[in-house]
Amino acid sequence: MSLEVIILAAGQGTRMRSKRPKVLHPLAGKPMLRHVIETAQAMRATAIHVVVGHGADQVKTEIADCGVNWVMQSEQLGTGHAVAQAMPAVQPDAQVLVLYGDVPLTSAETLSALMALLGDQRYGILTVTLDDPTGYGRIIRDDQGEVQRIVEQKDGSAAELAVTEVNSGIVAGNAADFSRWLPQLGNANAQGEYYLTDLTAMAVAEGFTVVTSQPPTAVEVEGVNSRTQLEQLERVYQRAIAEKLMAGGASLADASRIDVRGELSTGQDVAIDVNCVFSGEVSLGDEVLIGANCVISNATVGAGTVIEPNSVIEDAQIGRRCTIGPFARIRPGTVMAEGAKVGNFVETKKANIGKGSKVNHLSYIGDAEVGEKVNIGAGTITCNYDGVNKYKTVMGSGVFIGSNSALVAPVTIGDNATVAAGSVITGDVAADQLAVARGKQRNIDGWKRPKKA
Ligand code: UD1
Ligand code: CA
Repeated sequence: MSLEVIILAAGQGTRMRSKRPKVLHPLAGKPMLRHVIETAQAMRATAIHVVVGHGADQVKTEIADCGVNWVMQSEQLGTGHAVAQAMPAVQPDAQVLVLYGDVPLTSAETLSALMALLGDQRYGILTVTLDDPTGYGRIIRDDQGEVQRIVEQKDGSAAELAVTEVNSGIVAGNAADFSRWLPQLGNANAQGEYYLTDLTAMAVAEGFTVVTSQPPTAVEVEGVNSRTQLEQLERVYQRAIAEKLMAGGASLADASRIDVRGELSTGQDVAIDVNCVFSGEVSLGDEVLIGANCVISNATVGAGTVIEPNSVIEDAQIGRRCTIGPFARIRPGTVMAEGAKVGNFVETKKANIGKGSKVNHLSYIGDAEVGEKVNIGAGTITCNYDGVNKYKTVMGSGVFIGSNSALVAPVTIGDNATVAAGSVITGDVAADQLAVARGKQRNIDGWKRPKKA
């Protein structure tokens, strides 16, 4: 039977005190709503309907390209009303699962366990038992333990409110049943809303069995209403990632001081010092060492490479046994071959740095092809930009660039050529040549310094 997921995301999220719709606030670098959509995709939903209202245009723009069906709920008249808006687009023979754009950490396994309990004449609720159930809808069971209905906090009697098993909000059933029940909802309750929770009593009245299952931890059904709650879920999520990394053979100096906002894969015996942030897709080969305070996004790092503290790497391919930093900035399009070194206060961009080549200090290497075993002295700058266009600097293998040289691109330096320190190189240098392009030194005898009167 096909599964269609309806995600409620129309609420304003007043307590976030934000101009951004709540469901766009990021968890691990990704909007909460995107987490929920990806969970629905992981469950192989044949259709995903997202009910939007507040900030709908912004939500649709930022969560583009994920093939969901957007459903507009102009007025937020309640969770039941929200689901009803999506039903016309749902196939009548499908199963329906209702999720929430502000409940980002529900796992596909937990949801599959709930779906597995469904069938004809069945309606499913994901419930959780809380020490403090305040604010949630309570699951009311009869003497046999069968679920009878859900009572909202604002509508409950003292006895009902004493129940600690609560409604996570996540429910599932057959589309045909949803379509039959939703139009019957009324709003004669404390909040004047059309409650999705009232479907439970309707199911029971029709002789359905209401099935329930529980997530392994309550975190999976926690919603985000404030920035504090978002931060708490972020920490839980990051902790889980850190545990996975350690289980996979990586050492973390402090599991509470690493943030992964994307996918980080690590080889064996990787060690990561404190305060590192990884985003996008990053892969670290065996025995890679990452110093403190590094920020790395969309990069592959070969085995045995050492990244010293305070380095920033973005969209780069780093080979094996390279050394980077401390304080290096590796910008997009940098490719470093095996054993290459980029040291402190060096910026690279669209640069191919050959095997064993070194840019040890204080340089800018951009739009450059650097051969093997090249030594680039401190303060070397590739002048790649004339204010309009970018040009390339090409260095052959074995090149030696003296300190404080400016290489004005387009320019080619042949194999084993040498550039004297302090040169401004504006023309090509052939293989094995020495280029000296600087004012010649004059020493003036008997020079008198000016004296104060
Ligand atoms: C709801 C449940 C409650 C459950 C709790 C779990 C109902 C009536 N109550 O209460 O039993 O314990 O969730 O958190 O369902 N939304 C819309 N459109 C609407 C109304 C809500 O999209 O018209 C969205 C909100 O943006 C929010 C979610 O649905 O993300 C839940 O709505 P909310 O009003 O916060 O329900 P709760 O009072 O938390
Ligand atoms: Ca809520």
